[in-house]
Amino acid sequence: MKLAHFSDIHITHFPLSGKPALKRLAAVASYSIAGRGNHFRGSDARIARLLEDVDAQGVDHALCTGDLTGVSTEAEFSEVAGLFGPRLAQPARYTVIPGNHDRYVRGADGLFEKHFGKLSEGGRFPFVKHLSDRVSVVAIDVARPTSLIDSSGLCGAKQREALLGILTDASLKDRFVVMALHYGLLRAEGQRDARPHGLRDDVEVMELIDRADVSLDLVLHGHMHRPYVVKTKRRTAICVGSATDLHVKQGCGYHVYEIDPAAHRVRIERRVWSAGPGRYEADAASALNRELVTR
Ligand SMILES: [Fe+2]
Repeated sequence: MKLAHFSDIHITHFPLSGKPALKRLAAVASYSIAGRGNHFRGSDARIARLLEDVDAQGVDHALCTGDLTGVSTEAEFSEVAGLFGPRLAQPARYTVIPGNHDRYVRGADGLFEKHFGKLSEGGRFPFVKHLSDRVSVVAIDVARPTSLIDSSGLCGAKQREALLGILTDASLKDRFVVMALHYGLLRAEGQRDARPHGLRDDVEVMELIDRADVSLDLVLHGHMHRPYVVKTKRRTAICVGSATDLHVKQGCGYHVYEIDPAAHRVRIERRVWSAGPGRYEADAASALNRELVTR
C-alpha cells in the first residue's frame, strides 16, 4: 500500500481580503517586512506541481496534515481549493486536515470545512478512514484560533477520550494504523515543543498513544517545516516538514510511504522540490529514506 504525505504548503494571498483582524495584519508585516514571504513566494506553482507529482507516484492515498493557507482568508482557501480541483471530490484518494494557519482567527470559522469538508469527513473529528483493506488513518484536529503571540494547539479532553475509544477498539487491532495531526508531539531532538508553538496537551496525547492497549503504527504530522523522524516511548512519529518552504535546508518536499501492513513495516521515500526543472524529484541522498518496523 502506498501513501503520500505532505504538509504546510501555505498558499499566500496578499493583499488581504475578508474580515480585518490584528493577527492577520501582523502576519502581513511578518511576510513583507520580516522576510517570511520569501519562504513561500510562488508557492501556488509548487502546490500545483506537488499535486501532479503525488498523482504520478501511483499512490493509493494522499494525506495532507494542514496549513494550506497563510492567514485563513476566503481568497486563500479558494485559491488552494482551485489547485486541488477535482481531487476535492475524491475522499477515497485524498484526506486533508487543518493546521493552525487554517484556523487563524475566529472570523475564519467554517472556511476550512466549506472548501475541504469532503476530504475531512465533514470536519467531524476525530475520524477513522479505511484507506485499504489493511490500512486505516485516524485523524484529529488540534488547531484553533489563538491570540497574536500564541500559535499553540490543543487536542482537548473530549477529543482525547474519543481518540482513546477509537485506538483501543478491537476493529483496529490487526490493521496498520496511522494517526494524522498537524502539530508535532516532540521536536527533532526528542524534547517538547515550546509552549507558544506546541500542543498544550502533548504529554497527555503521548501518554494515550503509548498505552499498551492502543493499536497504532505511525504518527504523521507537519507544523515544523524541517522533516525528521522521532520516537515517543512506544511509537514512531514522522514530521514531513513543509512541501513548499524554500528555506528548508534539506529541501522542501514530501514523503511516499510503502506500507507492509502484515509485517508492520514502512519504507520512507523522500521527494524534494528541484527549482531548475521546476518539479519534485526523488531525493536519493535524503537521511529520511529508511525502513522502519512500527510494532
Ligand atoms: Fe502549523
